[in-house]
Amino acid sequence: MINPAEEFLSPRLKAVHDMAVEGESGLTERRIIDVGSDHGHLSLYSLINDNFAQAVLTDIHKAPAQRSEDTLRMFGYADRTEVYCTDGLDGVTLHEGDIVVMAGLGGNNMVDILSRVKEREDKAFLKTITWVLQPQKSSDRLREYLFTNGFEIKDENACEDRGLFYVLMKVVYNGVPREFTLKEKYIGPVILKRIENNEPLVMGYKDRLDKRFALSQRGDEEIRRMLEEV
Ligand SMILES: C[S@@+](CC[C@H](N)C(=O)[O-])C[C@H]1O[C@@H](n2cnc3c(N)ncnc32)[C@H](O)[C@@H]1O
Repeated sequence: MINPAEEFLSPRLKAVHDMAVEGESGLTERRIIDVGSDHGHLSLYSLINDNFAQAVLTDIHKAPAQRSEDTLRMFGYADRTEVYCTDGLDGVTLHEGDIVVMAGLGGNNMVDILSRVKEREDKAFLKTITWVLQPQKSSDRLREYLFTNGFEIKDENACEDRGLFYVLMKVVYNGVPREFTLKEKYIGPVILKRIENNEPLVMGYKDRLDKRFALSQRGDEEIRRMLEEV
């Protein structure tokens, strides 16, 4: 199938998209919600491939929100899209079974957005929403929030785009906070399993993860030492 979006969908966003659709059923009845949509490529790709009934795009800034709207209109999908200029999901009504993607945002920003949604939504309803998160930084902070706030990381992987590695995760709310190890926080529970299984993609990323983990431990040790000295 000829796909104009394919040409400009980055390998990173393709991986995010693939994780969003993988293992899901009834997608043609469901919506994809793209928070921080910027250019709107992810939603365009999803709609061109008929993977979702509708796309909802949000961006906190006017220019990218307008860009998203223009992209979808240019390709003839205005009737299957809604675009909001808003912070996260503020003012957006979620529907049962929505798949919410947040890609390219910082982990702290994602925590703020998730916290506000968790605060406002009925908890049984929240369990029907699937989240696909690709934090640009602070994935440790994001995981810590997820573990302690009853969100379960169902899947997690790395992807490579122009020599850079990114982490992406699929998350659902189950309402059960859980304890976690430092490795789970800094490397990720599913990525740890993938490393155990010698999966090539994560093995390419492992060195970086190991270094980051070593740094985090040094930081924790330094903090412990500082506290002991007080
Ligand atoms: C780096 S771009 C990522 C665009 C696209 N999601 C991607 O992964 O290629 C981040 C976009 O998110 C928007 N953004 C940042 N914080 C946001 C927030 N709290 N709510 C909605 N949009 C946000 C920015 O304006 C920008 O357009």
